[in-house]
Amino acid sequence: NKHIAGEKNLILIGFMGVGKTTIGEETARKLGRPFIDIDKEIEVAFGMPITQIFKEHGEKAFRSKEKELIKYYIEENGKILSMGGGAFLREDIRQLCLNTSTVIFLDTSWEVWEKRMHTLIDTRPILQKLSVPEIKDLFYERKEIYSSHHLRVDTDKLTPPQTADYIIEVLK
Ligand code: S3P
Repeated sequence: NKHIAGEKNLILIGFMGVGKTTIGEETARKLGRPFIDIDKEIEVAFGMPITQIFKEHGEKAFRSKEKELIKYYIEENGKILSMGGGAFLREDIRQLCLNTSTVIFLDTSWEVWEKRMHTLIDTRPILQKLSVPEIKDLFYERKEIYSSHHLRVDTDKLTPPQTADYIIEVLK
């Protein structure tokens, strides 16, 4: 199979808090492949949590480290990667991902996501400065950008392990 057997990187994309990290970890474990969470790597690089990076260094510094790390980790095949919901918005990163890897869009409906929103605010600086209607607009704006992908998974009725099983089954 051209996706899994080809050892291409699998990249999970989607809005903040749709489960990219959890599902990525689960998929990697089941496939016996390494998992890299770009957000985690950025935190390690700066030695602080994302909210603090935004406060102390600004979003620009965050984005530039994000891009550097994505390029670095995409270079080599065989991994499962998750990246922050904002990374894929940039044309160059999007093209790089789509050209080199299998891009999987984790699609959660607004109705399901909205119920989870309160658990995400503390760790997501992008959400902290917006009202709920603004977050909803952002959610739908980004959905259009995530429509460039190789595989879409509707996660509304699936647990993270079920989502991982689905991804593995479809790509087989
Ligand atoms: C961001 C998403 C976050 C993280 C940062 C910025 C964004 O990742 O990279 O807070 O711009 O959408 P998650 O998508 O994992 O929440």
